[in-house]
Amino acid sequence: MARLDWDDTFSVGAAMIDQDHRRLLGELNRLAETVDRGDTKGARDGFDSLFEAILRHFEREERFLLAHRYPDVETHHRTHAFKAEQILTARDLCAARLAHGEGQEVVDYLVEWLERHIRVEDMEYARFLARLPPASARPALAN
Ligand SMILES: [Fe+2]
Ligand SMILES: [Fe+2]
Repeated sequence: MARLDWDDTFSVGAAMIDQDHRRLLGELNRLAETVDRGDTKGARDGFDSLFEAILRHFEREERFLLAHRYPDVETHHRTHAFKAEQILTARDLCAARLAHGEGQEVVDYLVEWLERHIRVEDMEYARFLARLPPASARPALAN
């Protein structure tokens, strides 16, 4: 079964955000295991839990980017709004598929969706973060 395992190529260069992404990968992998077991109710709960975690992550990520004065934060916010809309639409479809034992397709979709979020969309700001001076040289951003 397709699933995502964390490695350094997922890192955006910010420990807090990497931790968040690791957690999302963990939730997705747990959901994949639930689907493997054929546990439809567990899979639906797992999907809802992942969905909530994604929304919380988007908020946290945007606050982080604002605090670091990322110039394209508005564009990134719009990307998040679009992604949230996508997954909200997929939620009902996924519930139906899970009920028909087609959980593998749901997992495949989520793997692609999440991998794109981190590896493509978030890597846009990772390049900006990499150019910032070390945190110790930025007292204004300490909190
Ligand atoms: Fe992210
Ligand atoms: Fe993001």
